[in-house]
Amino acid sequence: MLAPQKQYVQWLENKDGSETLHHALWVSESNHAPPARIVLVDDKTTADEAYRLACEGTSLLWHGDFHNARQLLQALNRRIERTNERSELRKMKKAANQSAKSNKNVDKSSELSKDIPNLFHQQRQLQAQRARILSRLLLELDANYVSQLRRAPDMSAACIAAFGQLDNELNESYVLSFRDLQGALGAAQWREKGVPIDGLDLSIFPHYGVFAPTRHEYVQLLLDAPLPDTCDVAYDIGTGTGLLAIILAQRGVPQIIATDLNPRALTCASENFTRLELANVQLQQADLYPTDAPLANLIVCNPPWLPAKPSSPLEYAVYDANSKMLRGFLQGAKAHLAEHGEVWLILSDLAEHLQLRTREELLSWFFDSGLKVKYRLDTKPKHGRSQDESDPLYAARSSEVTSLWCLEPTQSLITDN
Ligand SMILES: C[S@@+](CC[C@H](N)C(=O)[O-])C[C@H]1O[C@@H](n2cnc3c(N)ncnc32)[C@H](O)[C@@H]1O
Repeated sequence: MLAPQKQYVQWLENKDGSETLHHALWVSESNHAPPARIVLVDDKTTADEAYRLACEGTSLLWHGDFHNARQLLQALNRRIERTNERSELRKMKKAANQSAKSNKNVDKSSELSKDIPNLFHQQRQLQAQRARILSRLLLELDANYVSQLRRAPDMSAACIAAFGQLDNELNESYVLSFRDLQGALGAAQWREKGVPIDGLDLSIFPHYGVFAPTRHEYVQLLLDAPLPDTCDVAYDIGTGTGLLAIILAQRGVPQIIATDLNPRALTCASENFTRLELANVQLQQADLYPTDAPLANLIVCNPPWLPAKPSSPLEYAVYDANSKMLRGFLQGAKAHLAEHGEVWLILSDLAEHLQLRTREELLSWFFDSGLKVKYRLDTKPKHGRSQDESDPLYAARSSEVTSLWCLEPTQSLITDN
């Protein structure tokens, strides 16, 4: 694989009346292009001024106190919220709320129903716009990820864990967005403390850029579903932190093969398996199915559940453009199943409530893949967003159900061949 091309940013600094040109390596987890225009800002810059510049497309390299940068970011966020509140969305939000209160059934409210996909796309656009504006607040770190800002904490371990040792033989400094840095610091805390999983007597330790199982109601579904009579080999497709493979191992499945496309997920899952001393889970970096593996008695998968284009690599665990992964998973399942094997697909129906996919489509994908439904277990998500009545998509989000679809081949695998 080719090493990614190095990208640079440059800016002018004025010292003792003379201007010097500085440059640094550009680091962006969201794959944002290096900013064309950078100005220096510090504790004397007002939030209004910073907001105006950021909205105009100017990036702001912070030279003040480290903690004040965090406050500036919050102040920018509040200004974005206020602007959005005044926008068209506000009207739609009101309408959505009123309809949601009078009638929680999305399908019966035809007016509201028409707005839902638009609302969803508008919300995503606003989120992307917010991310662009907030990501314009930048800071500089030296080649060891050390900041020279006043009161800056030691961030090098968190940055190395998140971004790795970058190819930087000239020991050049880095410029990155304060937001990406906050993401790295937050991830370092999770990685250290872990996420306790209800229903399992353990914590999972997510890494930066790996889907963190903070909403894990579906764990109970995986504990409740009866294992196939013979269950010697199971696959966990898109393993993330390794959570589903761990559940299967705890339930006594002797051999589990877990895959993911994201190298960070593989490192993270491997660390979680080692922590739990699980020697019977093998990991493979693969697009969906493992290669050179025995046929599976059980294939589990909790795919990205919303059919929309991910706006950054960090969103690949949630968004799946045109349901490519879901359909690829279903189409490949039968060829990897042993006789009497089962597929357990964990899937939220939020996409259906958002009118991004229909139930009929999903059922037709099962059918076209030579699979039929053996049974289904359901659970209602309890996460904050499903209970936030001020969310314009509350009606859809509060109707969400996550299911474990147990699928089996429509025809016996032997008679089929
Ligand atoms: C919703 S997360 C689920 C993670 C984990 N199984 C869990 O339940 O916590 C979806 C996972 O699928 C992975 N993924 C997405 N597309 C994939 C593909 N084509 N092949 C393998 N893994 C994929 C993502 O990297 C992510 O880790």
